[in-house]
Amino acid sequence: MQSLNVELGERAYPIHIGRGLVDRGDLIRPLLKQPRAMIVTNTTVAPLYLARLSAALKVVGVDVIELQLPDGEQYKNWETLNLVFDALLQNRCERSSTLIALGGGVIGDMGGFAAACYQRGMPFIQVPTTLLSQVDSSVGGKTAINHPLGKNMIGAFYQPRLVLADTDTLTTLPDRELSAGLAEVIKYGLIRDLPFLEWLEGNIERVMARDPEALAYAIHRSCVNKAQVVAADERETGERALLNLGHTFGHAIETGLGYGQWLHGEAVAAGMVIAAELSQQLGWVGRDDVRRVEQLLARAKLPTMAAKLPVAQYLDLMRHDKKVEGGRLRLVLYRAIGEAVVSDLATDAQIASAIELRLPDA
Ligand code: NAD
Ligand code: GLY
Repeated sequence: MQSLNVELGERAYPIHIGRGLVDRGDLIRPLLKQPRAMIVTNTTVAPLYLARLSAALKVVGVDVIELQLPDGEQYKNWETLNLVFDALLQNRCERSSTLIALGGGVIGDMGGFAAACYQRGMPFIQVPTTLLSQVDSSVGGKTAINHPLGKNMIGAFYQPRLVLADTDTLTTLPDRELSAGLAEVIKYGLIRDLPFLEWLEGNIERVMARDPEALAYAIHRSCVNKAQVVAADERETGERALLNLGHTFGHAIETGLGYGQWLHGEAVAAGMVIAAELSQQLGWVGRDDVRRVEQLLARAKLPTMAAKLPVAQYLDLMRHDKKVEGGRLRLVLYRAIGEAVVSDLATDAQIASAIELRLPDA
């Protein structure tokens, strides 16, 4: 097992990465205020891992409540969130009970938001089971649900007490989901860690083949990057915004097509290529750099072309982005490969042209 800390003063917490961690109730028990926890998961993850995590907690004396939600991005909404509140209340969970999210980013984001709201905040633990959630969403305390008008628009910053990333759970993950997670892994290299990007360029096929050593390295290095950024800028007043490379375009794809059509990581991948096109138009990177971004994403079996939506719809949806300030669109772009910046320099015409370059032919 490898461990690191997210250094946030009195809210600091450990991330443990390793094999068989869903069976390690002993790692969770010391962090519980009272021996009572509700595991929130979904109908896909439950048959795979719920009994094991439940049993591991019961062995160490924890009274466990289980809740299975429907599976899918389209359920990351108020209605499903309310099912969590219903279960917490029906089971008389207290403010010092703990909510444990077992699943991917959808369960983690929604479980975390429920924990942030229930009785104004109950302890929360993340047990992420997708690559994307192990390298990104379980770390850093962003919790949210979607609104029909915009992705992750309703939420809170609420840090977990522990992140337990069991790399063995990735053996059951569909290939398409593994690729989606790789988009966020590649993102760290593109925004701030050029040596990691180079490592990925040399090892992407090993990671795709789920070589345990390569996967563990990629997860750990991603978490180191994320933990550093979050420790420096928890509330996204500066550097943390860089973690949204490709996301403004990607969120427009997810919202425009309807949640659940493209996977989040797929939409982000296409967005990272559009951001490269735009950075080239601004003269910050060259054609070879755009190709470099595109080629690595393609090797990870990710889309490098955008979803076919009208450009005007992209621009409209992008105006709901959380980085909009005073009505002005701020985008994460490449000053160079491995060095992202937030910029409001691109004009609407340049943004439209970058999107158009990545639209599939009619
Ligand atoms: P997801 O939660 O929908 O999981 C993907 C699919 O894999 C689901 O069908 C799920 O049931 C299934 N699954 C989960 N674990 C599995 C396993 N071990 N074996 C087999 N199937 C498994 O998607 P995701 O990619 O994990 O997360 C995407 C979500 O994360 C989006 O809603 C996105 O907005 C959010 N996100 C949040 C942050 C953040 O900082 N909070 C960062 C990035 C993404
Ligand atoms: N995934 C973006 C962030 O955590 O800030």
